[in-house]
Amino acid sequence: MSGKRVFVVDAGGRGNAIAHAFAKSGSVETVFVAPGNAGSEMIEKCRLATVQGKPPKTILELLAFAKQERIDMTFVGPEGYLSDGIVNIFQEEGQRILGPKKEAAILENSKCTTKDLLKGLNVPVPPCKNFGDPAAAREYVQQFCSENPGHGLVIKADGLAAGKGSIVCSTEEEARSTIERIMVSPKLFGKAGERIEIEKRLEGRELMFFALSDGRTVQPLESALDYKQAFSADETVAVRLFNKLSNNPYLENNPNTGGMGGFSPHPWLDEELTEKIMNKIALPTVHGFHEATGHEYVGVIYFGLMISEDREPSVLEINVRLGDPETQVILPRLETDFFLLSEALLDRKLASVPLQWSRDYCLGICATSGRAIKPHSSGGGEERPGYPGDHYTNMPLTGLEKVDPAVLVYHNGTAFGQDATGKRRLFTTGGRVLTLVARGHSLAEARIKAYDNIKRIRFNGMRYRKDIGQGYV
Ligand code: GLY
Repeated sequence: MSGKRVFVVDAGGRGNAIAHAFAKSGSVETVFVAPGNAGSEMIEKCRLATVQGKPPKTILELLAFAKQERIDMTFVGPEGYLSDGIVNIFQEEGQRILGPKKEAAILENSKCTTKDLLKGLNVPVPPCKNFGDPAAAREYVQQFCSENPGHGLVIKADGLAAGKGSIVCSTEEEARSTIERIMVSPKLFGKAGERIEIEKRLEGRELMFFALSDGRTVQPLESALDYKQAFSADETVAVRLFNKLSNNPYLENNPNTGGMGGFSPHPWLDEELTEKIMNKIALPTVHGFHEATGHEYVGVIYFGLMISEDREPSVLEINVRLGDPETQVILPRLETDFFLLSEALLDRKLASVPLQWSRDYCLGICATSGRAIKPHSSGGGEERPGYPGDHYTNMPLTGLEKVDPAVLVYHNGTAFGQDATGKRRLFTTGGRVLTLVARGHSLAEARIKAYDNIKRIRFNGMRYRKDIGQGYV
């Protein structure tokens, strides 16, 4: 058998980690990545896909690349391509591609539709209601707050909003202002906010739960404890400064991000809770979705859950893909051949592949483009609050060669370019720049290695949370 050619569609750190997982398979000869980033080329067997010198980006360009390079399997990372129907289009052209079809990607693409579907399937969700009219939404908020004093609300844009479309509101005033900003002006999430879902804020602990589905069999993946908020609890001064620079009136609000790091295995997701989530949520959702719509769900399904004090799960949201940065700490622990596992998913043979995991711990820290002033040639510079707000990119990045070779560096937003002297260098291109992942026999060992190594990397404005894993070692 000649080596397989795999194509990973993803631009970020998750894509680096997926490509790395494929590259470890003895069956795989080459992994192409598009649009990819500088890190995609630093992994053995991995190459950036290019068409006439440029990365393919549109679905048709990606399809042309897959055909031209005789790709054996394509794996899609981000929700945008899935919602736009990349799987449908590739399959119509005879390509083997892994991910849910457009019809199934609605589970992430429309929060309102999904909550209605889950209610119909008796899958537990928080009390919630959908609105297309801001006046009706405001009226509901007023009534809710008078009937439930002291209870918070979560307001969600219906459509895709790059992980930023969910806003927690503690007061009626905050909720009214959020409705205004999403639905009326400045329409924070554009068309994605034409409808909103308002739900009661549940008490408990959040859990990200990942599973694989071939449409019939559903298998849980190991999970990770992730860190969503931009700042740790003791960074109150930094939070206020961030909000001041972002013109956010709620100065104490620690903003949510796509994720600032995490570690795996998850410290309190045990077998009993996993079984409960599988039986009450994952299986009824996948099978119920098929019965309700006629469409099979094939690929990764990722449930954002709230676990109550008595360990009962409720679904806050569903995503149709792997998480970023969770993937960066979960996949390095997978011992099952990722190519063969993906083949089994496509061939509806997931039941025949047992998942095996390393007992090691992986801990990842995201280095982000934080608060910075970029000097103008004339002298002054504008201060920007940093990720997840407005931030500078195109900052030279140094120190990667000093990182312990056993430590993984997955790039989220980097590219090669030339400095003023014409020398080839690495530059930042995004809010999240890279995720450094260390492993160890204990969480403490992984944590020490990760923090020791991240200090070796530098770029102007670099910021990371100092408390990943703290309190769990
Ligand atoms: N880490 C959150 C996400 O991938 O949606």
